[in-house]
Amino acid sequence: KPILLYGAPVQEGSRVRGCLMGPDAYRTANLAQMLETLGYEVEDHGNLSIEEQKPLSHPNTQLHHLAEYGAWTRVLCEAAHTALAIGGLPIFLGGDHSMAAGTISGIAQQAADARQEQFVLWLDAHPDFHSLESSETGNLHGTPTAYFTGHASFTPYLPALKAPIKPGNLCMMGLRSVDPAERTALAEAGVVAHDMRSIDEHGIIAPLRTFLDRVKEANGRLHLSFDVDFLDPGIAPAVGTTVPGGATFREAHLIMEMLHDSNLVTSIDLVELNPFLDERGKTARLMVDLVGSLFGKRILDRPT
Ligand code: ARG
Ligand code: MN
Ligand code: MN
Ligand code: MN
Repeated sequence: KPILLYGAPVQEGSRVRGCLMGPDAYRTANLAQMLETLGYEVEDHGNLSIEEQKPLSHPNTQLHHLAEYGAWTRVLCEAAHTALAIGGLPIFLGGDHSMAAGTISGIAQQAADARQEQFVLWLDAHPDFHSLESSETGNLHGTPTAYFTGHASFTPYLPALKAPIKPGNLCMMGLRSVDPAERTALAEAGVVAHDMRSIDEHGIIAPLRTFLDRVKEANGRLHLSFDVDFLDPGIAPAVGTTVPGGATFREAHLIMEMLHDSNLVTSIDLVELNPFLDERGKTARLMVDLVGSLFGKRILDRPT
């Protein structure tokens, strides 16, 4: 399967500017070359874009860039659907996490066309499970999971959802900043959510195995949505919403290695990289190394 790179220079989902440079930082850190070295065929489809939008208003006056959210969701939904339909493995280079409303709804639609069950692994300090009404900051990168699961209505701002992701097929790991409204909604919806305490107690291996076994049993597809702030800010400072106490270097590589061994990942978002906040490219390089582990880079061969 060829790996298809799509830049999604989205930064309207946050008030911190800089995520629009994310796609080019991954290119500068040699993402495509690294994958080619591992033996993959890689096609860089360049950056997607939206037209200029007229502002939309909403009763929640904190919300900003709602029209841009709709436009990006339409563009990314279409791109994600097409990428899978032509038989590629897309990697969407973000861009803030609001882009996942588009990528994941498009992927879910294509999985439904192919009569396959779609699962999502959400690596993030945040659940991003706000509705338009419950968002306190008005930052739309805090809302995509509520959209693509169909848990909240985004009509008429976002496209009607054709194939919602079942909340039980959405597994979140790394949570450590959850707003009160999100906490209630997650429990009510039945999202599979592992916070940092649960990782401290059980490690990442057991919960990840359990989830991967479920995907395998359902003969399902797995989308990985990887927010840079899943990682500890000490190793990954290039993010606008840092939260202390994130995943370590070793935990993150182990997750990627287990995902590679599972052979289940069919699409990926890399989100929230803000190169303006990076230290000499360190976060971009770490993300590229992690993608390496996800695609089979290993220290030694392993007995089979
Ligand atoms: N829950 C907070 C909010 O709604 C933070 C969201 C952070 N999301 C992210 N994708 N970094 O504003
Ligand atoms: Mn603006
Ligand atoms: Mn996020
Ligand atoms: Mn986050």
